Amino acid sequence: MAGSVAWVTDVTPEDLVDPFGRTVRDLRISVTDRCNFRCAYCMPAEGMKWVPREDILTFEEIERFARVCVDRFGFDGIRLTGGEPLVRAHLPRLVERLAGLGVDVSLTTNGATLRRHAQDLADAGLARINISIDSLQRDRFLELTRRDELDNVLDGIDAAIDAGLAPVKLNVVMMRGINDDEAVDFATFGRERGVTVRFIEFMPLDATGEWTKATVVPAEEIVSAIEAVYPLVALTRGTEPAERFRFADGKGEVGVIASVTRPFCGDCDRVRITAEGSFRTCLFAIDEFDMLRHLRGGGSDDDLVDAISAAVGTKWAGHSIGQVNFIRPAKSMSQIGG
Ligand code: 5AD
Ligand code: SF4
Repeated sequence: MAGSVAWVTDVTPEDLVDPFGRTVRDLRISVTDRCNFRCAYCMPAEGMKWVPREDILTFEEIERFARVCVDRFGFDGIRLTGGEPLVRAHLPRLVERLAGLGVDVSLTTNGATLRRHAQDLADAGLARINISIDSLQRDRFLELTRRDELDNVLDGIDAAIDAGLAPVKLNVVMMRGINDDEAVDFATFGRERGVTVRFIEFMPLDATGEWTKATVVPAEEIVSAIEAVYPLVALTRGTEPAERFRFADGKGEVGVIASVTRPFCGDCDRVRITAEGSFRTCLFAIDEFDMLRHLRGGGSDDDLVDAISAAVGTKWAGHSIGQVNFIRPAKSMSQIGG
């Protein structure tokens, strides 16, 4: 190839194993902390402080970081998150670069602008998509997100299906007294549209500090509510966080992510990098490891490898939500990346 470097660095990937014996292979990249929604549990209505644009990783920096993870540590999955990833201009170009690394590239979005982007994302090589939607009721959706965008999100879901991004998954964060009466409605919606709905237990990562254990709707309760209407058959669990069930009549699947009542930390193979290049070994991590310093400061790939290994050496066994020793991270979900 003209202009390319003449030698090939043929490095065999080495497993990145944490102190508890888990092999890390999954990278979540937040591409922006900004969002076009203001979900009440995630952000204040006004006055969010954004990371200055010049401090956000460029596509080149993201690709380089991802390449090191894939080539040197054998990572096999990359998920793009935010904030809302689709507010970042030209996102399909990043998807194309990352898909070119030969890994499974997926995206979590609120779906508001998905109609416009779904086909480009699919063409760029996006493998899968998760769309967040916490209510199917227009007034409630508005109250929750502070945006009257339910119709656009529903249209975005259809666009994802049309673009062939199957299996489309919906993420529903269940909160007591807010949307816990919608489990069956969501199950019905999933069956009718041919999408997989996954209910997530509310975690203490909200910007408002309103989380209490009483706001968590236990996954078990959600499964019981659905099962009373649509008989379910439990599927064998892999290493993924979701516990999966198929509808006994064959009309698809639902899942629950019991992050609080049945934490799946023992199987966690994830690490994250925030939009400004801070590496985190857990959603709830207190420590961050600055990768921008290496990416922008002339660091070599070996420097990155060393920094990643050192960081993963601090990955803890699991979060302790609900216990006395739990410390809330200073950042909220949109600043970490979901
Ligand atoms: N608890 C659980 N899920 C959350 N999300 C955002 N904040 C929380 C929280 N505190 C979800 C979003 C989206 C995904 C990125 O994380 O709704 O589905
Ligand atoms: Fe945006 Fe997601 Fe936070 Fe809602 S939960 S404000 S969609 S980042």
